[in-house]
Amino acid sequence: MHQTLLLLPGDGIGPEVVAEVRRVAEILVPDLKFENGLVGGASLDQHSVPLTDATLELARRADAVLLGAVGGPKWINVARDKRPEAGLLALRKGLDVFANLRPAYCFPALVDASSLKRDIIEGLDLMIVRELTGDVYFGEPRGIDTDANGYRRGYDTAVYTHPEIERVTRVAFDIARGRKGRVCSVEKSNVMESGLFWRQEVTLTHAEFGAGVDLSHMYADACAMELVRAPKQFDVILAGNLFGDILSDEAAMLTGSIGMLPSASLGAPGTPGLYEPVHGSAPDIAGQGIANPCAAILSLEMALRWSLDREKAADALYAAVGKALDKGARTRDLGGTLSTREMGDAILAAF
Ligand code: NAD
Ligand code: IPM
Ligand code: MN
Repeated sequence: MHQTLLLLPGDGIGPEVVAEVRRVAEILVPDLKFENGLVGGASLDQHSVPLTDATLELARRADAVLLGAVGGPKWINVARDKRPEAGLLALRKGLDVFANLRPAYCFPALVDASSLKRDIIEGLDLMIVRELTGDVYFGEPRGIDTDANGYRRGYDTAVYTHPEIERVTRVAFDIARGRKGRVCSVEKSNVMESGLFWRQEVTLTHAEFGAGVDLSHMYADACAMELVRAPKQFDVILAGNLFGDILSDEAAMLTGSIGMLPSASLGAPGTPGLYEPVHGSAPDIAGQGIANPCAAILSLEMALRWSLDREKAADALYAAVGKALDKGARTRDLGGTLSTREMGDAILAAF
C-alpha cells in the first residue's frame, strides 16, 4: 500500500512553495502517492466555501496533509465563516490536530541572518508545543453586538477544558523526554481564569504523567521578553492557542526568517498529521517566484518524521537543506538573490 500525501497549496505564495515540496518529495520518496485539493481563498473562489466536505474527507483518508498558506487581500471583506483562514481552522478542527509543534532552530549558516547577536542565537533549538483546537479561536460566545448600555462591543471567549489541556500537555512531556527534558508552560494566570486553570491542570498532569520532565511556568509576556533576551534557556515551550501563535512567530524570527520554519499538527496516534510552514500567504511577494520554500520543504521533513515513519528520508532532507545553505544558497528574505525554484534546485543538488 502506497502512503498518500495530500497537497493543499492554498493561496498567495502557497502554490509556489508547495510546487518545490512536490519536486523534492518525488525524488526523495518516489513511492509516495500525491493527491491535490483546494483550501482557503482558492476553494472559496471555486466552491463558495474555504473548505469543502470532500476535501476534509480526502484529508482524513490521507497519511499526511501538507498545506501551503491561506488568505490574502482579495478575501478580506468576506464573512468570517467564509474567509480563507476559516478553512484552515475547519481543517485543523476537522482533523482534530490538537498539538501544533513549532520548532525554532538555527542552521549554522544562518546565524548571522538573525537580528540578534550570534552568541544569543548560535545553537538555538527549541520546540513550541501550541494547543491548536481550543482557546479564543473556537470559544463561545463570541460576536459583535450591542450591550445593555447601548454600546457596540466585540468579544471572544478564552476557554480550556480538562481533557484539552491534559492531552496537549502529555504531548509536550513526550517530546521533552526525547530532548533535554524541560517544559516551560506559558499562560497569564495572573489575570485570566482560563490561564489559572491551565497552570493547575498542567501541574496535575505533570504529577501523573511527567516522570523525568522538569516543569516550569512563565507568564506569556515575560516569555515574549525572555525569547529575545536569552532564547537558549528554553527546551520545550507549552502554550495555549493564542499565546502559542504569537510566541511562535517571535521564535521564527529569531532564526533569521519566517521563511525557514515548519510546523507539524498532530492528533491521536494513527490519524493524519497536518504540516504547514509557519508563515502565511505573503501577499506582498506572491506571484513573483521569490518566496523562500524552505519552511514548506522542512514541513515535508516533519511529515516524513512524524506521520510517514521515514526517519532516514527526513534526516537526508534536513541535511540537504543545511548543505544548500552552507554552500550559500539564499532567497531574498535571507539576503540572497535565488528564486523559489532555484532554492529548490539547490536543495535537490545537495542530496
Ligand atoms: P505572512 O507570513 O504571510 O507575511 C509576513 C512577512 O513575511 C511578509 O513581509 C512576507 O513577505 C514575509 N514572508 C512570509 N513568508 C515568506 C517566505 N516563505 N519567503 C519570504 N518571505 C516571506 O503574514 P501576514 O502578512 O501577517 O499574513 C498574510 C496572510 O496570510 C493573511 O491573510 C493571514 O491571515 C495569512 N496567514 C496564513 C497562515 C497560514 O496559512 N498558516 C499563517 C499566517 C498568516
Ligand atoms: C498560523 C496563522 C493562523 C492562526 C491563521 C491564519 C488562522 O496565523 O498558522 O499561525 O492564527 O493559527
Ligand atoms: Mn500565526
